[in-house]
Amino acid sequence: MAGAAQHAHWSSRWAFIMAAVGSAVGLGNIWKFPYEAGQGGGGAFVMVYLLFVFFIGTPMLVAELSLGRRGQLSPIGSMKKIAQEEKRSPLWGLIGWSGVVGAFIVISFYSVVGGWTLAYMVKSAMGAFSNIDAQTAQDTFVSYISNPVMTLVSHFAFMGITIFIVAKGVQGGLEKAVTYLMPALFAILLVLVVYSGFTGDFAKTVDFLFNPDFDELLYKANSPEAIAAGGAAKVFSLDMVLQALGQSFFSLSLALGSIMTYGSYLTRDVNVGRSALTIAAADSSVALMAGLAIFPIVFAYGLDVAEGGGLVFMSLPIAFGQMPFGIVVGTLFFGLLAVAAITSSISLLEPPVSYVEEKTGWNRRKVAITMGVAAGVLGVLSAYSQGDNMLSSISIFGLSIMDAKDFLTNNIIMPLGGLFTALFVGWFVSRKAMMEELAMEDKTFRIWYFLARFVSPTAIGIIFIKIIYDTVVG
Ligand code: TRP
Repeated sequence: MAGAAQHAHWSSRWAFIMAAVGSAVGLGNIWKFPYEAGQGGGGAFVMVYLLFVFFIGTPMLVAELSLGRRGQLSPIGSMKKIAQEEKRSPLWGLIGWSGVVGAFIVISFYSVVGGWTLAYMVKSAMGAFSNIDAQTAQDTFVSYISNPVMTLVSHFAFMGITIFIVAKGVQGGLEKAVTYLMPALFAILLVLVVYSGFTGDFAKTVDFLFNPDFDELLYKANSPEAIAAGGAAKVFSLDMVLQALGQSFFSLSLALGSIMTYGSYLTRDVNVGRSALTIAAADSSVALMAGLAIFPIVFAYGLDVAEGGGLVFMSLPIAFGQMPFGIVVGTLFFGLLAVAAITSSISLLEPPVSYVEEKTGWNRRKVAITMGVAAGVLGVLSAYSQGDNMLSSISIFGLSIMDAKDFLTNNIIMPLGGLFTALFVGWFVSRKAMMEELAMEDKTFRIWYFLARFVSPTAIGIIFIKIIYDTVVG
């Protein structure tokens, strides 16, 4: 029998949920979400984000999971097969292609940041943060990302772990890894929330995260130059709202084939709708808990909530260096980030691996190593584009290589992939086929169908137009 005829499957619904939650919970939840919430003014950003997760993201999770399960192939194979069954153009296979290629690009730089988390775990354990001030914390980070040897070693260490897990297959690798790593992740997160709650400024955090101030979300401070020229102090802007929508997609691992591939390993007895809700709920809970772990420290130590991407790598170490048990807390924190990143990176390597496996019939180990090493090599370009590292002077339309790849995937590939996926399930697959695949109660199905047909494509379409407008005009 040809290898492709026996597509792998999860051994249980639980294993699938853990893997999917593992994919969703990642750097997006613990690194990005808190700093974006910080920049978006807290509660209002969180509220809008949660609305997007449940009304736009969750229906898309359902769409991808059901397409994957129906196709029982890699995202490219599944999309082509379903398009053919529905007598639609084979061009719909491009959704699969954009996912597989996009996932390959994302893992190439996701692994770089994954490497940073490993390096910071080691630094923390060695006591590198004790009593550092803001300047030293910043210098430590910049000199690390500028170091060609250290960044190379950490990036390939991270990629090596990812390859190792993916090489062992769906049940022997992915499932085994997530069943150990996810409980560890929840345990560490809980410890950190409790610790922060007792030692940090918990009251202020709760107010910050759950008391929405829409002015903070909708108005951004005008530049000092604009104010000097007689402009208003604050200008209306939907930037953070659209950021929240993009973040909800990234956090749920949508539009890059990860969820579709995981769906293809599903058996018929699993309820897709209920699973999607569980995944979305777990993912947002972890994002909120990450906020509850980080912000009490941020407030207690007077760090800047709107610091941005440096919040985790440049601000938190200052606090770890001063607090009681800071070495333990810091090491646990970066360990948590590393675990979250690994269970996500395996889901990014999986779509390209499943496609190449299907196409070539090579064994999984060979495919995992080939694709992982190839992505790793591509990732070196990103790693070396940071700080004053070797390729930091290269600029692509004004962006570093890392930011250019991020822009291409986050702003072009993901919205287009999401848009066409929504259009496909909403308008090009027969209603009957979707009903059969989802086996939902009539009323639930109608809600999902409405969201997938009208709400998701409209919302994603608006984002995409805004991105293009900003890029071309702004
Ligand atoms: N969701 C992960 C995070 O929050 C990252 C991720 C994994 C991802 N697979 C994906 C993002 C697919 C987009 C698409 O960090």
